[in-house]
Amino acid sequence: MTSHAFWIAGREATGDETFDVTNPYDGRTVGTVSVPTEAQVEEAVAAAHAVRDEFAATPAHVRAAALDHVARRLTERTEEIAQLISAENGKPVKWARGEVGRAISVFRLAAEEARRWNAGEAQRLDTDQGGTGRLALTRRVPRGVVLGIAPFNFPLNLSAHKVAPAIAVGAPIILKPAPATPISSLVLGEILAETDLPAGSWSVLTVPNDRMPALVQDERLPVISFTGSGPVGWSIRDSVPRKHCTLELGGNAAAVVLADWASEQDLDWAATRIATFSNYQGGQSCISVQRVIADAAVYDRLLPLIVEKVEAQVTGDPSDDATDVGPLVSEDAARRVEAWVDEAVKAGAELLTGGTRDGATYAPTVLAGVPEGVTLSCEEVFGPVLTVQRTEGEEEAFAAVNDSPYGLQAGVFTHDLRTAFRAHRALEVGGVIVGDVPSYRADQMPYGGAKQSGVGREGVRYAMDDYTYERVLVMTGLAL
Ligand code: SIN
Repeated sequence: MTSHAFWIAGREATGDETFDVTNPYDGRTVGTVSVPTEAQVEEAVAAAHAVRDEFAATPAHVRAAALDHVARRLTERTEEIAQLISAENGKPVKWARGEVGRAISVFRLAAEEARRWNAGEAQRLDTDQGGTGRLALTRRVPRGVVLGIAPFNFPLNLSAHKVAPAIAVGAPIILKPAPATPISSLVLGEILAETDLPAGSWSVLTVPNDRMPALVQDERLPVISFTGSGPVGWSIRDSVPRKHCTLELGGNAAAVVLADWASEQDLDWAATRIATFSNYQGGQSCISVQRVIADAAVYDRLLPLIVEKVEAQVTGDPSDDATDVGPLVSEDAARRVEAWVDEAVKAGAELLTGGTRDGATYAPTVLAGVPEGVTLSCEEVFGPVLTVQRTEGEEEAFAAVNDSPYGLQAGVFTHDLRTAFRAHRALEVGGVIVGDVPSYRADQMPYGGAKQSGVGREGVRYAMDDYTYERVLVMTGLAL
């Protein structure tokens, strides 16, 4: 078993206490992680605050070279890190490899953006008499130190989405990984420590959640980027209304299959994608397919195909290459999913497959006819469970998507470009994916929610904008 130090201002350190990280599949200890003391947290925050001007002034080539270095080292260490993610999170190793690949892209994209970003925008001001001889130059400057709070479901890549844009703009970052899955972020720290970034510009602090409010309240950390549950995210924002908060919260994403998506090949593709992406990571993704909204014209052919493909998902040991669906992050999480499914079935839902639990593993599950008002029909299940609903026509389908407190992404299976545009206008979500499931995400895309799904956007360049504000320089007496 390995012991893991945390990272204060670019330096490895240990505190007085430790906690164990366990594999949710078999309960074995994956590693022991040291917890920073209050004084060590203070040291990290003070160092980040002190270095903020120096870091903002760092040349683009220094920031870009560091980001490129991280991308390169993640590439070299892919297999080791994928095994680690799989062990600490329970994610099947094939999905963990995909996550490392995405984190590599995030750092590579951030390096590219760092090189071309913030050249500045010139605007002539002599459009009115008072502006004669004046020119405005607008550039973006960091809002200050970022507190990045990462979730357990993509422990490396969602940390990368906080750290890489911060480095790209020259904003110091304090990263707080999820207590269930901190080890991959600590390995990211190992790689960051190989760079020439100024001391203080980054820290990875394995503080427990009950010490998070002190960090959230700290005025030296004016930007908070949080990914996690709605109740925690909104309570953070409510507690610091004057801070700049980006919240990436939950969703109960819908895949709509419309009447024109009707050939054998169409339905096979839709069913395959739906079955895969309601179960990837055990359904623990904010954009995993939770609701299938199928037009009456295709419903009866689609439903058995979905059930067949869900039943073909291989459940088991996440370290096995053949496994599609591993455990949830904990047995408690699986028990909650079980309770929600049981509630729906008692209320009259038809259980088409699944509905069983073995420790922390919940079987891939499909339900139809889920009554309105049960928890599963309105809240985010965050488990390998999908519900199927029959609708008539595009309007009813889009209304069903919007009948949710959430609005992160939606998938629409249609061949009709005009329908795609109507979906884009009508659906109250941060992203509409045409011809595929809502779970599609490219890391350069703007990503974030409407309604209860959050505020602000990630996606490398969008997070860079989010971490900075525009500052205008007006020059006077120029020959324009
Ligand atoms: C999330 O769960 O919000 C992240 C999904 C992803 O990055 O694919």
